[in-house]
Amino acid sequence: MEFFEAIDTRRSVRQYLPEPVPRETLQRIVAAGVEAPSGCNLQLRQYVIIDDPGLMDRIRPVSRALAGAPAAIVLLVEPRATDFGMEFWVQDASAAMQNMLLAATALGYAGCWVEGALRRSEDLLRRELGVPGGLRIWSLTPVGRPVAIPARPAKPAPAEVTHYNRFGCR
Ligand SMILES: Cc1cc2nc3c(=O)[nH]c(=O)nc-3n(C[C@H](O)[C@H](O)[C@H](O)COP(=O)(O)O)c2cc1C
Repeated sequence: MEFFEAIDTRRSVRQYLPEPVPRETLQRIVAAGVEAPSGCNLQLRQYVIIDDPGLMDRIRPVSRALAGAPAAIVLLVEPRATDFGMEFWVQDASAAMQNMLLAATALGYAGCWVEGALRRSEDLLRRELGVPGGLRIWSLTPVGRPVAIPARPAKPAPAEVTHYNRFGCR
């Protein structure tokens, strides 16, 4: 898939076909996350690939977006400041998640950035995945073939939110 086609066709998918996802595909998606920018290149991210059907079923209650999904990638981040006292770990995790969603799309799969729903299930995920105490369970994405591609939600036209040289200059 061409780069801008992946950008333009990526959608948050919340219903998946049960068809398994090859490990090489999941690893390629993680590699796209690893390739994302990282503040001061601290590389604070870890990735848990879930492709065990029993484990998938146990974590499915975390979010409705996992419906039918055969696999998921859970993004962990070490909430550590840079040597200059800047906190970049949220941005680091976000950049990795966006790269993974685009990679999944480019490979003909789909995902969904699950973060809000995950907050109330951090204990369950920590227990099921054996996540050590120093790492935050930041977000996850299901990975699979979509049952259907959802309609594109409302977004502004780029011209509506673009300013040339000075705010308000169109
Ligand atoms: C920080 C963040 C948190 C999100 N959390 C959730 C979530 O918990 N559950 C969910 O179904 N979608 C979640 N989403 C997906 C958004 O709902 C989705 O991106 C938005 O509706 C736009 O749709 P699109 O991704 O298809 O363009 C989240 C997205 C972001 C960026």
